[in-house]
Amino acid sequence: MKQLHNGERIHLVDNKARQYALTLKAGEIFQYSGETIPHDELIGKADGSVVTLSRGKRMLALRPTLGEYVLKMPRGAQVIYPKDLAMITIWADVYPGARVFEAGTGSGGLTMALLRAVGDRGSVVSYEAREDFAKTAMKNIERYLGPVPNLTARQQDASEGIEPEEEAGGFDRVVLDLPEPWRIVPHAARALRSGGLYLSFVPTVPQVMQTVEALERATVFGMIETFETLLRTWNIKGRSVRPDHRMVAHSGFITVARKVEPGLLAARAAEVEAAPGHDSDAEEQDEENAA
Ligand SMILES: C[S@@+](CC[C@H](N)C(=O)[O-])C[C@H]1O[C@@H](n2cnc3c(N)ncnc32)[C@H](O)[C@@H]1O
Repeated sequence: MKQLHNGERIHLVDNKARQYALTLKAGEIFQYSGETIPHDELIGKADGSVVTLSRGKRMLALRPTLGEYVLKMPRGAQVIYPKDLAMITIWADVYPGARVFEAGTGSGGLTMALLRAVGDRGSVVSYEAREDFAKTAMKNIERYLGPVPNLTARQQDASEGIEPEEEAGGFDRVVLDLPEPWRIVPHAARALRSGGLYLSFVPTVPQVMQTVEALERATVFGMIETFETLLRTWNIKGRSVRPDHRMVAHSGFITVARKVEPGLLAARAAEVEAAPGHDSDAEEQDEENAA
């Protein structure tokens, strides 16, 4: 539907591109910097309309994109930034029809990105340890996506394991955004189908180290990779063409791994480690130079 409707979450955007979230409710009034506009004047307007407030200020009335919605929705836990949502869905290769296990649900930001990526034919099972966060997440998700019959949301500690009936179906993807993903790795190793993808997101280097060690210990993961995403926006105004002064310089590290038959990659790593005078950094440099 292209018209903004009663009950919907919308954003009003000022001329500096600052966004203000509100839920449209017939009879209510939106207030901004001493100016007002009745919600009734917004309901029925086309998505993207310019609206005028009581003292003449003009704003855009928009249905938010998922990335915009996530940044403004009520939060229990810290949400994942849109730049990371974008990377996670592609690097975990979340495809239409996929069956995904996620933990923790947090405020539901990543859950929504996963639900959109798997589509109606796929499904997401999401565990969240905290009851209050689980409730906030469901409200956020349903307000944006409507009813989500293909989401199974459980208030459950994922480190205690995945429910047998859920694990039995096998997962195509496991996506984790919680502080101790290494505690879930053994469960992921069992629940993922062969060829399936594991992805976790953590903010600090010690967490990455523990995660990668757990993946290596599990022996069924190969092609383990860790990276971060830096997104730098630019100011393009007349001759002032330069990077913006401010950016989100750090959010977290993404670690991806593939569930594979053990053997090939582990054997190669053991050969390299055992080589006399082995220096893995120097060896990698030599390989890159040769390529
Ligand atoms: C950073 S937040 C996740 C944010 C979420 N990705 C989003 O976009 O809204 C981490 C969440 O993991 C939950 N959590 C921590 N350990 C957990 C566990 N073992 N099992 C399930 N949830 C857990 C926390 O309660 C918190 O809500």
